[in-house]
Amino acid sequence: MFTPSRLIDQIDKHISLLPFDETPCGLYEPIRYVMRLGGKRIRPVLMLMAYNLYQDSVEEILDPAIGLEIYHNFTLLHDDLMDRADKRRGKDTVHRVWGENTAILSGDAMLILAYRYIAMAPAEHLKEMLDVFTRAALEVCEGQQYDLEFESRIQVSEEEYENMIRLKTAVLLAAGLYMGTLLGGGSRQDAGRMYDFGIYTGIAFQLKDDLLDVYGDPEVFGKNIGGDIVCNKKTYLLIKALEKADSFQRETLLYWMQKECDPKLKIEAVTQLYNELQVRKLCEERIDALYQEAISCLEKVAVASERKEELRRVVQQLMYREL
Ligand code: IPE
Ligand code: IPE
Ligand code: MG
Ligand code: MG
Ligand code: MG
Repeated sequence: MFTPSRLIDQIDKHISLLPFDETPCGLYEPIRYVMRLGGKRIRPVLMLMAYNLYQDSVEEILDPAIGLEIYHNFTLLHDDLMDRADKRRGKDTVHRVWGENTAILSGDAMLILAYRYIAMAPAEHLKEMLDVFTRAALEVCEGQQYDLEFESRIQVSEEEYENMIRLKTAVLLAAGLYMGTLLGGGSRQDAGRMYDFGIYTGIAFQLKDDLLDVYGDPEVFGKNIGGDIVCNKKTYLLIKALEKADSFQRETLLYWMQKECDPKLKIEAVTQLYNELQVRKLCEERIDALYQEAISCLEKVAVASERKEELRRVVQQLMYREL
């Protein structure tokens, strides 16, 4: 079985050979920039790992796996614009370097390129691959829209939040796992179980991202800390904090959420309340529970248990990651 790091090497090599050096440079240079900044490559890695449950070489589906990564990177260009984020993978975001219009247009081109590479899937499964990908890609937009709408709402339930992150984050991991399983030769039933495994993993993955947005080390995390607090993002931490707060703490939280203020002071004050209310622990407990759910979906996949060991390991590493 391939380890994730072996797969990342293959993915990065493949990405370095992609023809992103066409003209006009103003369109393609930002694409090259973001695609070569690295990142965890978790979506193609999971897709290839699913395929590797059944097949010994992953070469045959490297192109569609890269398509998934291009799509993910496209969402980052637009997401950073929407979230007013300055840093990504330790570097300036595309809209900071080249401006907002470039982030929009290079992003658009990346969405189209993503389709080009997904469409390189083996002909036998092509239609289904396009269907699964299209559905997930649209769901990501739905999730991003909820994420945006929740910024200007005070009350968002835990259920609404989990549905939002299922859409914006989990479905893409899940779709990759589904695609990898079917392309590898797994049954449709197992592909469905792998999809569910991806949903639980993806929800936990986003909870961890929210947690790191407050408690991460900016050097390792590669994004500015506190961005979610500044934007009034309805994260698990904020939802739980509002739930647990006494009336004074609630007033304080609402005060910071409604006020145009110095971002540094706001991050400090809200983090202080999170600490008092110990919401970090609740978030970690939820991540653990989701991890268990994910593993139990994986156990049902009809493949020898030892072949699934790398997948178990990679999910555990994701839950306890620092970036
Ligand atoms: C960032 O995705 C957006 C989220 C869904 C949290 P990743 O955390 O996978 O980012 P990279 O690709 O590793 O940089
Ligand atoms: C992003 O969620 C999800 C997508 C990009 C679709 P976040 O906004 O939390 O991701 P980061 O923290 O900017 O990477
Ligand atoms: Mg963001
Ligand atoms: Mg966002
Ligand atoms: Mg985030």
